[in-house]
Amino acid sequence: MAVGVFDSGLGGLTVYDALVKRLPDVPFVYFGDNAHAPYGVRDADDIFDLTTRAVSRLWDEGCDLVILACNTASAAALRRMQERWLPADKRVLGVFVPLIEALTERDWGDNSPPREVAVKHVALFATPATVASRAFQRELAFRAIGVDVEAQACGGVVDAIEEGDMILAEALVRSHVDALKRKMPDPQAAVLGCTHYPLMEDVFQDALGPGVTVYSQASLVAESLADYLRRHPGMTGPGETAKLLTTGDPRKVSDRATQFLRRKITFEAA
Ligand code: DGL
Repeated sequence: MAVGVFDSGLGGLTVYDALVKRLPDVPFVYFGDNAHAPYGVRDADDIFDLTTRAVSRLWDEGCDLVILACNTASAAALRRMQERWLPADKRVLGVFVPLIEALTERDWGDNSPPREVAVKHVALFATPATVASRAFQRELAFRAIGVDVEAQACGGVVDAIEEGDMILAEALVRSHVDALKRKMPDPQAAVLGCTHYPLMEDVFQDALGPGVTVYSQASLVAESLADYLRRHPGMTGPGETAKLLTTGDPRKVSDRATQFLRRKITFEAA
């Protein structure tokens, strides 16, 4: 029954929380690689090695399907994993596609040629590795034409969130939004392209102003997974126990997670 959820650290909990609410009967096994976060400043080989190691650990927990609740891993490692690494009986899904489908008002699996969409100016906030990969622009180009994307690499925000320093995280978000607005003064939509950023969604919205629609991934990914499992009921693996694993200090990570999700969350050592 189990499905794996992976992130470099605490950010994937925003997706995990939505998944647990949307699919209460599925035992989710979360893996946070907190000892190696942030991934966003690492190179692609490093991100591939860390991500495959973590996903293998989730196979061991009886998860045949793993959600990469991490844009950095989805951008820097997913394609290589799918092309060269993934065993035939396992699946790994990233978090970009549901978001881009929402932005381009497409139904799940609509593979028709790219077309004009309502939104023309999109601000992308993501980690340096995600921005450098240009994976978001590539996926968007498969589905939409005429969309201008301005990307802002938000250095430091993930570190501040992992350290629980929300005052620093807020200051950094505001300065990254200012930097983005100097390049694109009037975005219509903003994509929070890192699963840590929904923890700062109010600050992004406040800094961007009420006229900007902010897209974040949690509920979009949950809806997409529900649909995927309806179509592939065999992809839930043999694991039966929900748990949260971390490569970091379980007590410290549990405290932060409890603070973020506002309910008791207990991690164990991976
Ligand atoms: N939360 C992750 C993401 O969605 C990774 C952040 C990081 O480790 O730099 O990109």
